[in-house]
Amino acid sequence: MTLITDSHSRVADTTSPILPALAERWSPRGFDPTAVIDEDTLTTVLEAARWAPSGNNNQPARFIVARRGSASFTKIHQHLMGFNQAWADKASVLILNIAEGDNPWAQYDLGQAVAHLTIQAQHEGLFTHQLGGIDRKGLADAFNLKASQAAVTVTVLGVLGDAEALSPELLQRETAPRTRKPLTEVVLVND
Ligand SMILES: Cc1cc2nc3c(=O)[nH]c(=O)nc-3n(C[C@H](O)[C@H](O)[C@H](O)COP(=O)(O)O)c2cc1C
Repeated sequence: MTLITDSHSRVADTTSPILPALAERWSPRGFDPTAVIDEDTLTTVLEAARWAPSGNNNQPARFIVARRGSASFTKIHQHLMGFNQAWADKASVLILNIAEGDNPWAQYDLGQAVAHLTIQAQHEGLFTHQLGGIDRKGLADAFNLKASQAAVTVTVLGVLGDAEALSPELLQRETAPRTRKPLTEVVLVND
């Protein structure tokens, strides 16, 4: 079995040192289809999301947590775009990320909660891949979400898998160099 990290360093090439979990996080497509995340670890990962800050402490983030093999997992997987469906079924858990309420920061807060979740997952030795390529309306209908609840993204959560199991196209994406805009472009004013 070839883990992608055996042959290709995916660690961020940073200009200044950052926390290991931040540098080591990347979004794989190759997940181990046999891996099961233990319940305590899964709770820990969700707890990190729960303790994220939010505007006025409104806590608008909601999650549907679906373990592989469950009916909810199948439902979420069925509503991914084809290019995501092709590999996301190997993950241990699919999480539907939902923003509840109409406060203007709800989706910002949800994103921050998911960011915290991804970093806690990385710290636990797990990997995440966030997906916007989903059928948001279809997911809202499938889970009978309220009008005040918006399905925004899906987080794929699991254990890094065998890169050789990927199609040549996916393997090419999996091994493509990781790039970022320079800080000088991202920071507009820095005086
Ligand atoms: C809101 C959001 C939506 C994304 N949607 C998809 C998607 O539909 N399919 C996919 O393969 N990756 C998706 N990604 C992953 C990004 O492509 C990835 O984070 C980006 O290329 C940077 O790579 P890295 O996470 O490995 O550093 C998404 C990420 C975010 C934050």
